[in-house]
Amino acid sequence: MDSWKLLEEGCLSCQKCPLGKSRTHTVFGVGPHTSDILFVGEGPGQQEDLRGEPFVGPAGKLLDDMLLIIDLGRYNCYITNIVKCRPPQNRDPLPTEQDACFPFLQEQMRLLQPKMLICLGRIAATRFLGSDFKISRDHGKWYQKDGLWITAIYHPSALLRDVSKRPETFRDLKSIQAKIKELGLAI
Ligand code: URA
Repeated sequence: MDSWKLLEEGCLSCQKCPLGKSRTHTVFGVGPHTSDILFVGEGPGQQEDLRGEPFVGPAGKLLDDMLLIIDLGRYNCYITNIVKCRPPQNRDPLPTEQDACFPFLQEQMRLLQPKMLICLGRIAATRFLGSDFKISRDHGKWYQKDGLWITAIYHPSALLRDVSKRPETFRDLKSIQAKIKELGLAI
């Protein structure tokens, strides 16, 4: 069996943290295994838990619109989350839940070998960029780690709650688009 399939099967049946008991579906991730671009959110919400696919609820609809602005679509980049099972009442995933789940994302990244990582919101950003990262201060900045370009933008749910953050996010999206072009990434 191929490595992606094996990894997904291990993830779908995972019981390494209590979220495994309460989930309807594990939300592994979607997208071509050849994409250079990886988006990482926080964790599945209600709709994602019901359907087993990331970003298909209200925040997902906005993410689709955000991707369109920069000529991307949900099926030409890889999209996943820090935790693969829904935290109850959409609370932040606990550090212990994130730690239990992170090896799946690390393995997804080993297989995908992305060239660009876009963190959606604070939880993903602090995982990759450290606990000093402040989304309100540092969104849109670029970081380079081991050949991987990393940036973070506001989570689409935050943009649904607070539309005043949208103009800065538009600028961040344009910066992502420019960087994709500059690096000649495969989409
Ligand atoms: N929010 C996330 O962070 N991820 C999803 O998949 C859906 C909503």
